[in-house]
Amino acid sequence: MDNDVALEEEIGAMPDKWPFTDHVRKMSTSIIREILKFSAQPGVISLAGGYPSPDMFPIEDLKQAAIDCIDEYQSTCLQYSFSMGIPQLREIIAQRETKQGAESKTDNIIITSGSQQGIDILGRAFLEPGDYIITESPTYVGALQAFNFYKPRYATVDMDRNGMIVEQVEKAIQKHSPKLIYTVSTFQNPTGITMTEDRRHKLVEIATKYNIPIVDDNPYGEIRFAGTPVPSLKAIGGDAVISLGTFSKLIAPGLRIAWMNGPASIIPLFEKVKQGTDLHTNTFTQFMIYQYIKSGKLDDHIKEIIKSYGAKRNHMIKEMEKQFPKGITWTHPEGGLFLWCELPEGMSASKLMLEIVKEKVTYVYGFPFFPDGRGDNTFRLNFSNASIETISQAIERLARVFKAHMK
Ligand SMILES: Cc1ncc(COP(=O)(O)O)c(C=O)c1O
Repeated sequence: MDNDVALEEEIGAMPDKWPFTDHVRKMSTSIIREILKFSAQPGVISLAGGYPSPDMFPIEDLKQAAIDCIDEYQSTCLQYSFSMGIPQLREIIAQRETKQGAESKTDNIIITSGSQQGIDILGRAFLEPGDYIITESPTYVGALQAFNFYKPRYATVDMDRNGMIVEQVEKAIQKHSPKLIYTVSTFQNPTGITMTEDRRHKLVEIATKYNIPIVDDNPYGEIRFAGTPVPSLKAIGGDAVISLGTFSKLIAPGLRIAWMNGPASIIPLFEKVKQGTDLHTNTFTQFMIYQYIKSGKLDDHIKEIIKSYGAKRNHMIKEMEKQFPKGITWTHPEGGLFLWCELPEGMSASKLMLEIVKEKVTYVYGFPFFPDGRGDNTFRLNFSNASIETISQAIERLARVFKAHMK
């Protein structure tokens, strides 16, 4: 023991002084992750994270899928595997995409460790420091976090109830020559808004004219509980679009299985980029998900999710209509996991957070979703994770805080 102490003193390592990059030293922690830490405390109702409902995980069917894939694939499902992903899963995803209107082959699909990795791969593949990306404003904060590593600049495009205001995109292209157009076009995180079909066609037209790739990050497209389906950007734009899909919200996020669907000629480029980061996505969970889809249970499961989240969304809106004071507005999403609220101009959702957490409830305040730091009077509510009962309690607690500050 004494010797160990002496050795430590002698070595005198100072890890805090190691030469980390400037960029990593200055990185801010994800605000959502910080809020989620508080959300995990006992008695706190979280409307903050983008968590699917834990009681919707198909636990028994996944257990069976795990057993079946060990039985059927033995050591293969535990071995290193292809950076592209296992061919069986890529093929079955291509078939699902085709069925949903986006004609796809196995060669169009690369499996990723969550869509979050897909975003990072795009950053690595396309961005030099100072390059521009066009994004919606607001946009998915996790994409900003991933892209920021490559030091881009953002050309933001406003949104209205019909999604990204595509008319602004051409001007932004002419001014900034962006490398990518990044959109969450369907049931957007954070707003829940969906881009209209007309705008989708216009966006594809403009992007094709200037040959800028559209990235359609689409984790929520299959979770529609109201309104009329619109074709995906991939279905409309084909090779003009790289779409990102994920099983995080459809099966379970802990399995970390997602995919990129892009032109067959560039997928090998993404493969090389991925190889350097994690060699390949978890072989076992790829086989498990393949086995689960092959058993034919996924489509019925998605129907259950839609039923559950649709009911929760309706309930949350009903409670908000009843309890929130006048002056607060919100979106009415036709699918997905989130709705987006606006307090009257001049109020700060981030400052109110201190009061909100005292009431043991959490939301995510809005400004981090804006690349240009606007939107401090906005916040995002998640309706998938809490139960119907706790949604009522959470809205009542939020309403109490709002009423106290809106006299
Ligand atoms: C728009 C968007 N993209 C990507 C992700 C990350 O998904 P994954 O769990 O597949 O990494 C999320 C998660 O909430 C999201 O909302």
